[in-house]
Amino acid sequence: MKTRAAVYREPNVPLDIVELDICNLAPQDVLVRITHSGICHSDLHVYHGSRDWETPMILGHEGAGVVEDVGEGVTGIKSGDRVVLSLVASCGRCRSCAAGFANRCQVLPAFPIGTYYDGGHRFEKDGEVHHSFCTVGSFAEHAVVHFSKAVRVPDDVGLDVACLVGCGVPTGVGSAVNTAQVRRGSTCVVYGCGGVGLNVIQGCRLMGAAEIVAVDLLDDKLALAERFGATRTLNATDDDPVAAVMELTGGRGADYAFEVIGTGATYKNAWNSIGMGGLAVMVGGPPAGTPFHIDATEIYFGKALTGSMYGNSSPARDFPWIFDLYRSGELLLDELITQHRPLNDVTAALDELDTGGVVRTVLDIGEE
Ligand code: APR
Ligand code: ZN
Ligand code: ZN
Repeated sequence: MKTRAAVYREPNVPLDIVELDICNLAPQDVLVRITHSGICHSDLHVYHGSRDWETPMILGHEGAGVVEDVGEGVTGIKSGDRVVLSLVASCGRCRSCAAGFANRCQVLPAFPIGTYYDGGHRFEKDGEVHHSFCTVGSFAEHAVVHFSKAVRVPDDVGLDVACLVGCGVPTGVGSAVNTAQVRRGSTCVVYGCGGVGLNVIQGCRLMGAAEIVAVDLLDDKLALAERFGATRTLNATDDDPVAAVMELTGGRGADYAFEVIGTGATYKNAWNSIGMGGLAVMVGGPPAGTPFHIDATEIYFGKALTGSMYGNSSPARDFPWIFDLYRSGELLLDELITQHRPLNDVTAALDELDTGGVVRTVLDIGEE
């Protein structure tokens, strides 16, 4: 069987749209006909060659579609099911999974390499192996995923918005709900109001934060941040955001700061924005080797720091309530979508994310 996919080969070279052969399904595989895929900043990191990625690689990891076929060992999901594809695969039985951290599954670590859980691959062209980013590879007409990565979408939720629940939504909302467990009435600062940061903001709102300070360099992102629940906005182009946060909190510092960009400088700003007893949650992925210096006495006096890969989300636990809150109007998803584009325009859409005018582009790849 054949499919069409957008393939990364070298940094900053337009993705190749090519026809590929789909390999035979392994027993735990699910074949999904992709209808929509979001474009996330992590796709842009790969496109810019942020590290030595396995190539050629099908990009995209925010996909949704319809199950076309399943391997003989698959349970709980069948042909015809409408699904969103999770970034993480999980066995459901290891210590991490049992503790509610499917994002750190010890048996099926699927992020962010291109090789499948059994060491294999699922796509080829003239015998050449093609990897799949996050073992999703959703910039394609088909994806093959471990069955734990395919999560059913309620009938009344469109796959065009459901695809965003593959990465940006659980990463952001989960960072506030699962990782920080934001206390009601607290003060939160969010650095970066892109596709993930806006979801951190709405996660803080859902948890009942009293103040949510949004920081970005772009006024249009800050206007959106207000729509998602920010109570104040700061443009870091003109002002020192840390000084502004200190002034806003009467010198105490915030209870929580979220870094949702992925640079050493903004890691530092987030850390410097919290007070004693505060928690800094680093959501953005910095380039490997980025230094980040902390004065040990700050830790001694009670400042805390943690990472939040995938918002510490467990798809089977978290996606259902995310969809429920969307249906009740408490969680905004449609507002994250700036534009729709066909698969052929994927490179142009990556460039648009880079220049800052876009929150999420959704690629329309197939009919629902
Ligand atoms: N200060 C404040 N805001 C900044 C700064 C800065 N120094 N630099 C960039 N920004 C803003 C951008 O203007 C943009 O609105 O950060 C936002 C980043 O948003 P996106 O590009 O949409 O990225 P997103 O998909 O949200 O991902 C952010 O999270 O998942 C991780 O590692 C991933 O690095 C990525 C990060
Ligand atoms: Zn992502
Ligand atoms: Zn596990």
